[in-house]
Amino acid sequence: MARNIIIDTDPGQDDAVAILLALACPELNVLGITCVAGNVPLTLTSKNALQICELAGRPDVPVHAGCDRPLGRELVTAEHVHGSTGLDGATLPDPKMKLQEKHGVDFIIKSLRDGPEKTITLCPLGPLTNIATAIKQAPDIKQRIAQIVLMGGAYFEVGNITPAAEFNIFVDPEAAKLVFNSGIDLVIAPLDVTHKALTSKKWITELRNQNNPVCEAVAGWTDFFERFDSEKYGSSGAPLHDPCVIAYLIAPELFSGRRINVEIETKSELTRGMTVADWWGVTDRPSNALFLGDINADGYFSLLTKHLAKL
Ligand code: RIB
Ligand code: CA
Repeated sequence: MARNIIIDTDPGQDDAVAILLALACPELNVLGITCVAGNVPLTLTSKNALQICELAGRPDVPVHAGCDRPLGRELVTAEHVHGSTGLDGATLPDPKMKLQEKHGVDFIIKSLRDGPEKTITLCPLGPLTNIATAIKQAPDIKQRIAQIVLMGGAYFEVGNITPAAEFNIFVDPEAAKLVFNSGIDLVIAPLDVTHKALTSKKWITELRNQNNPVCEAVAGWTDFFERFDSEKYGSSGAPLHDPCVIAYLIAPELFSGRRINVEIETKSELTRGMTVADWWGVTDRPSNALFLGDINADGYFSLLTKHLAKL
Protein backbone atom coordinates (compact mmCIF):
# COMPACT_ATOMS: atom_id res chain seq x y z
CA MET A 1 0.00 0.00 0.00
CA ALA A 2 1.51 3.36 -1.05
CA ARG A 3 2.22 5.87 1.70
CA ASN A 4 0.02 8.99 1.58
CA ILE A 5 1.98 12.23 1.70
CA ILE A 6 1.35 15.95 1.35
CA ILE A 7 4.39 17.94 0.18
CA ASP A 8 4.62 21.49 1.55
CA THR A 9 7.14 23.36 -0.50
CA ASP A 10 8.83 26.58 -1.69
CA PRO A 11 10.30 25.57 -5.08
CA GLY A 12 13.37 26.09 -5.32
CA GLN A 13 15.42 23.78 -7.51
CA ASP A 14 16.01 21.26 -4.73
CA ASP A 15 12.30 21.25 -3.87
CA ALA A 16 11.66 20.50 -7.54
CA VAL A 17 13.91 17.44 -7.45
CA ALA A 18 12.16 16.27 -4.28
CA ILE A 19 8.71 16.63 -5.89
CA LEU A 20 9.89 14.79 -9.03
CA LEU A 21 11.35 11.98 -6.91
CA ALA A 22 8.09 11.63 -4.98
CA LEU A 23 6.01 11.56 -8.16
CA ALA A 24 8.30 8.91 -9.64
CA CYS A 25 8.00 6.56 -6.67
CA PRO A 26 5.15 4.01 -6.62
CA GLU A 27 5.73 3.64 -2.87
CA LEU A 28 4.35 7.17 -2.36
CA ASN A 29 0.90 8.60 -3.05
CA VAL A 30 1.17 12.39 -3.33
CA LEU A 31 -2.26 13.56 -2.15
CA GLY A 32 -1.39 17.15 -2.95
CA ILE A 33 1.21 19.88 -2.94
CA THR A 34 0.85 22.99 -0.77
CA CYS A 35 3.03 25.98 -1.54
CA VAL A 36 4.53 28.45 0.88
CA ALA A 37 6.55 31.66 0.54
CA GLY A 38 10.23 30.99 1.07
CA ASN A 39 12.94 30.75 -1.54
CA VAL A 40 10.85 33.14 -3.66
CA PRO A 41 7.44 34.77 -3.05
CA LEU A 42 4.29 32.62 -3.01
CA THR A 43 3.16 33.61 -6.50
CA LEU A 44 6.38 32.10 -7.85
CA THR A 45 6.57 29.04 -5.59
CA SER A 46 2.99 28.23 -6.62
CA LYS A 47 3.67 28.69 -10.34
CA ASN A 48 6.87 26.65 -10.02
CA ALA A 49 5.01 23.77 -8.36
CA LEU A 50 2.55 23.68 -11.28
CA GLN A 51 5.43 23.64 -13.78
CA ILE A 52 7.14 20.80 -11.92
CA CYS A 53 3.97 18.67 -11.91
CA GLU A 54 3.55 19.23 -15.66
CA LEU A 55 7.22 18.39 -16.26
CA ALA A 56 6.54 15.10 -14.46
CA GLY A 57 3.46 14.51 -16.65
CA ARG A 58 1.22 14.80 -13.57
CA PRO A 59 -1.26 17.64 -14.14
CA ASP A 60 -3.65 15.60 -11.94
CA VAL A 61 -1.78 16.46 -8.74
CA PRO A 62 -3.71 19.13 -6.79
CA VAL A 63 -1.53 22.18 -6.11
CA HIS A 64 -2.67 24.70 -3.49
CA ALA A 65 -1.24 28.11 -2.64
CA GLY A 66 -0.71 28.53 1.10
CA CYS A 67 0.69 31.31 3.27
CA ASP A 68 2.42 34.22 1.61
CA ARG A 69 4.40 35.38 4.66
CA PRO A 70 5.66 34.04 7.98
CA LEU A 71 3.47 34.01 11.12
CA GLY A 72 4.90 37.17 12.57
CA ARG A 73 7.88 38.31 10.56
CA GLU A 74 8.69 39.98 7.29
CA LEU A 75 9.32 37.45 4.51
CA VAL A 76 12.97 36.75 3.72
CA THR A 77 13.58 35.14 0.31
CA ALA A 78 16.64 33.54 -1.32
CA GLU A 79 16.85 34.69 -4.92
CA HIS A 80 20.63 34.94 -4.39
CA VAL A 81 20.65 31.14 -4.25
CA HIS A 82 17.77 30.10 -6.49
CA GLY A 83 17.64 32.97 -9.02
CA SER A 84 14.79 35.40 -9.65
CA THR A 85 12.31 32.69 -10.70
CA GLY A 86 13.30 30.19 -8.03
CA LEU A 87 13.88 27.64 -10.78
CA ASP A 88 16.71 29.29 -12.69
CA GLY A 89 18.86 26.83 -14.64
CA ALA A 90 16.10 25.28 -16.71
CA THR A 91 13.35 26.93 -18.75
CA LEU A 92 9.92 25.32 -18.40
CA PRO A 93 6.76 26.34 -20.30
CA ASP A 94 4.16 28.40 -18.48
CA PRO A 95 1.82 25.98 -16.72
CA LYS A 96 -1.54 25.06 -18.24
CA MET A 97 -2.83 23.44 -15.03
CA LYS A 98 -4.39 25.80 -12.51
CA LEU A 99 -4.01 26.18 -8.78
CA GLN A 100 -6.79 24.68 -6.69
CA GLU A 101 -9.24 27.16 -5.20
CA LYS A 102 -8.81 25.88 -1.65
CA HIS A 103 -6.05 27.49 0.45
CA GLY A 104 -3.18 25.14 1.19
CA VAL A 105 -3.80 25.27 4.93
CA ASP A 106 -7.46 24.32 4.43
CA PHE A 107 -6.39 21.46 2.16
CA ILE A 108 -4.04 20.12 4.84
CA ILE A 109 -6.74 20.34 7.52
CA LYS A 110 -9.47 18.79 5.33
CA SER A 111 -7.21 15.96 4.12
CA LEU A 112 -6.29 15.06 7.70
CA ARG A 113 -9.86 15.24 8.99
CA ASP A 114 -11.36 13.31 6.06
CA GLY A 115 -8.77 10.52 6.02
CA PRO A 116 -8.30 7.79 8.65
CA GLU A 117 -6.07 8.82 11.57
CA LYS A 118 -2.29 8.40 11.17
CA THR A 119 -2.46 7.72 7.44
CA ILE A 120 -0.95 10.94 6.07
CA THR A 121 2.69 12.06 6.36
CA LEU A 122 3.45 15.75 5.96
CA CYS A 123 6.68 16.58 4.09
CA PRO A 124 7.63 20.23 4.60
CA LEU A 125 10.50 21.38 2.38
CA GLY A 126 10.37 25.10 3.16
CA PRO A 127 9.43 27.45 6.03
CA LEU A 128 6.88 25.79 8.34
CA THR A 129 4.26 28.54 8.07
CA ASN A 130 1.53 26.41 6.46
CA ILE A 131 2.01 23.52 8.86
CA ALA A 132 1.98 25.75 11.94
CA THR A 133 -1.05 27.68 10.68
CA ALA A 134 -2.95 24.43 10.11
CA ILE A 135 -2.14 23.23 13.65
CA LYS A 136 -3.16 26.60 15.13
CA GLN A 137 -6.45 26.64 13.21
CA ALA A 138 -7.22 22.95 13.85
CA PRO A 139 -5.37 21.55 16.88
CA ASP A 140 -7.32 18.30 16.46
CA ILE A 141 -5.17 17.40 13.43
CA LYS A 142 -2.09 16.87 15.63
CA GLN A 143 -3.11 13.35 16.59
CA ARG A 144 -4.23 12.64 13.01
CA ILE A 145 -0.81 13.26 11.40
CA ALA A 146 1.19 10.04 10.98
CA GLN A 147 4.56 11.78 10.88
CA ILE A 148 6.25 15.00 9.78
CA VAL A 149 9.47 14.51 7.81
CA LEU A 150 11.02 17.89 7.12
CA MET A 151 14.12 19.53 5.74
CA GLY A 152 15.41 22.21 8.09
CA GLY A 153 17.79 23.18 10.82
CA ALA A 154 21.43 22.48 11.49
CA TYR A 155 23.72 21.66 14.40
CA PHE A 156 27.31 20.70 13.52
CA GLU A 157 26.92 22.43 10.14
CA VAL A 158 25.68 25.68 11.79
CA GLY A 159 23.70 28.11 9.62
CA ASN A 160 23.48 28.88 5.92
CA ILE A 161 21.46 32.12 5.98
CA THR A 162 23.02 33.44 9.21
CA PRO A 163 25.95 32.04 11.22
CA ALA A 164 23.35 30.41 13.50
CA ALA A 165 20.35 29.39 11.40
CA GLU A 166 19.31 27.31 8.41
CA PHE A 167 17.01 29.13 5.93
CA ASN A 168 13.70 27.24 6.37
CA ILE A 169 13.74 27.65 10.14
CA PHE A 170 15.16 31.19 10.01
CA VAL A 171 12.33 32.48 7.78
CA ASP A 172 9.61 31.48 10.25
CA PRO A 173 11.06 30.53 13.63
CA GLU A 174 7.72 30.93 15.42
CA ALA A 175 6.15 28.40 13.04
CA ALA A 176 9.05 26.03 13.58
CA LYS A 177 8.78 26.38 17.36
CA LEU A 178 5.10 25.46 17.24
CA VAL A 179 5.75 22.40 15.04
CA PHE A 180 8.76 21.21 17.07
CA ASN A 181 6.74 21.51 20.30
CA SER A 182 3.61 19.88 18.84
CA GLY A 183 4.34 16.36 20.04
CA ILE A 184 3.95 15.06 16.48
CA ASP A 185 6.41 12.34 15.38
CA LEU A 186 9.18 14.43 13.75
CA VAL A 187 12.05 13.43 11.48
CA ILE A 188 14.44 16.25 10.63
CA ALA A 189 16.86 16.34 7.69
CA PRO A 190 19.19 19.19 8.72
CA LEU A 191 22.18 20.67 6.90
CA ASP A 192 24.27 18.14 8.88
CA VAL A 193 22.98 15.47 6.52
CA THR A 194 22.15 17.46 3.39
CA HIS A 195 25.65 18.91 3.21
CA LYS A 196 26.88 15.33 2.84
CA ALA A 197 24.63 14.90 -0.23
CA LEU A 198 26.72 16.91 -2.68
CA THR A 199 26.05 16.68 -6.39
CA SER A 200 28.95 15.97 -8.72
CA LYS A 201 29.80 16.66 -12.34
CA LYS A 202 29.81 12.89 -12.83
CA TRP A 203 26.26 12.58 -11.55
CA ILE A 204 25.06 15.54 -13.60
CA THR A 205 26.61 13.99 -16.73
CA GLU A 206 24.93 10.67 -15.85
CA LEU A 207 21.62 12.53 -15.62
CA ARG A 208 22.12 14.22 -18.98
CA ASN A 209 22.91 10.83 -20.53
CA GLN A 210 19.41 9.64 -19.62
CA ASN A 211 18.15 11.78 -22.50
CA ASN A 212 14.86 12.66 -20.88
CA PRO A 213 13.46 16.16 -20.22
CA VAL A 214 13.14 15.60 -16.47
CA CYS A 215 16.77 14.61 -16.08
CA GLU A 216 17.84 17.45 -18.35
CA ALA A 217 15.94 19.97 -16.21
CA VAL A 218 17.41 18.54 -12.99
CA ALA A 219 20.89 18.75 -14.48
CA GLY A 220 20.30 22.39 -15.44
CA TRP A 221 18.94 23.30 -12.00
CA THR A 222 21.79 21.54 -10.25
CA ASP A 223 24.38 23.26 -12.41
CA PHE A 224 22.77 26.59 -11.53
CA PHE A 225 22.52 26.39 -7.77
CA GLU A 226 25.80 24.53 -7.41
CA ARG A 227 27.57 27.83 -8.13
CA PHE A 228 26.29 29.36 -4.88
CA ASP A 229 27.58 26.60 -2.62
CA SER A 230 30.83 26.21 -4.53
CA GLU A 231 31.58 29.94 -4.13
CA LYS A 232 30.50 29.94 -0.48
CA TYR A 233 31.96 26.68 0.79
CA GLY A 234 34.60 26.06 -1.86
CA SER A 235 32.95 22.69 -2.29
CA SER A 236 32.66 21.00 -5.65
CA GLY A 237 29.02 20.11 -5.85
CA ALA A 238 25.87 21.46 -4.25
CA PRO A 239 23.89 19.98 -1.38
CA LEU A 240 20.65 18.48 -2.68
CA HIS A 241 18.71 19.34 0.47
CA ASP A 242 15.01 18.64 -0.02
CA PRO A 243 15.08 15.27 -1.83
CA CYS A 244 16.59 13.86 1.40
CA VAL A 245 13.08 14.06 2.87
CA ILE A 246 11.59 11.90 0.11
CA ALA A 247 14.59 9.56 0.03
CA TYR A 248 14.14 8.99 3.78
CA LEU A 249 10.54 7.90 3.18
CA ILE A 250 11.45 5.36 0.51
CA ALA A 251 14.91 4.24 1.70
CA PRO A 252 15.38 5.12 5.40
CA GLU A 253 18.33 2.72 5.53
CA LEU A 254 20.35 5.35 3.65
CA PHE A 255 20.24 7.59 6.74
CA SER A 256 21.24 7.54 10.38
CA GLY A 257 20.56 9.92 13.23
CA ARG A 258 19.65 10.30 16.88
CA ARG A 259 16.35 10.83 18.67
CA ILE A 260 17.07 14.00 20.60
CA ASN A 261 15.59 17.25 21.87
CA VAL A 262 15.60 20.14 19.41
CA GLU A 263 14.44 23.60 20.45
CA ILE A 264 14.04 26.70 18.26
CA GLU A 265 15.47 30.10 19.13
CA THR A 266 12.87 32.83 18.57
CA LYS A 267 13.90 35.60 20.98
CA SER A 268 17.37 36.75 19.92
CA GLU A 269 17.86 38.45 16.55
CA LEU A 270 21.47 37.21 16.63
CA THR A 271 20.48 33.53 16.82
CA ARG A 272 16.94 33.74 15.40
CA GLY A 273 15.90 30.36 13.95
CA MET A 274 18.79 28.40 15.45
CA THR A 275 17.93 24.73 16.04
CA VAL A 276 19.38 24.04 19.48
CA ALA A 277 19.94 20.30 19.11
CA ASP A 278 20.88 18.37 22.26
CA TRP A 279 22.96 15.88 20.23
CA TRP A 280 25.13 14.99 23.26
CA GLY A 281 22.23 14.65 25.71
CA VAL A 282 23.54 17.31 28.08
CA THR A 283 20.06 18.40 29.16
CA ASP A 284 17.07 16.52 30.50
CA ARG A 285 14.83 18.02 27.84
CA PRO A 286 12.64 15.27 26.34
CA SER A 287 13.49 14.08 22.84
CA ASN A 288 11.06 15.42 20.24
CA ALA A 289 12.69 14.47 16.93
CA LEU A 290 14.80 12.03 15.00
CA PHE A 291 17.64 14.35 13.93
CA LEU A 292 19.44 12.85 10.93
CA GLY A 293 23.21 13.13 10.89
CA ASP A 294 24.55 10.89 8.15
CA ILE A 295 23.67 9.62 4.69
CA ASN A 296 24.89 7.02 2.23
CA ALA A 297 25.45 9.60 -0.52
CA ASP A 298 26.22 7.08 -3.27
CA GLY A 299 23.01 5.22 -2.51
CA TYR A 300 21.09 8.51 -2.46
CA PHE A 301 22.26 9.63 -5.90
CA SER A 302 21.73 6.16 -7.38
CA LEU A 303 18.17 6.25 -6.05
CA LEU A 304 17.63 9.67 -7.62
CA THR A 305 18.95 8.63 -11.02
CA LYS A 306 16.94 5.38 -10.98
CA HIS A 307 13.64 7.13 -10.28
CA LEU A 308 14.11 10.36 -12.24
CA ALA A 309 15.04 8.39 -15.36
CA LYS A 310 11.60 6.74 -15.24
CA LEU A 311 9.62 9.99 -15.58
O1 RIB B 1 18.44 25.65 3.69
C1 RIB B 1 17.99 24.83 2.63
C2 RIB B 1 16.52 24.92 2.47
O2 RIB B 1 16.14 26.26 2.19
C3 RIB B 1 15.99 24.09 1.28
O3 RIB B 1 14.70 23.65 1.56
C4 RIB B 1 15.97 25.09 0.17
O4 RIB B 1 14.99 24.77 -0.83
C5 RIB B 1 15.55 26.33 0.90
O5 RIB B 1 14.13 26.30 1.02
CA1 CA C 1 12.86 24.22 0.03
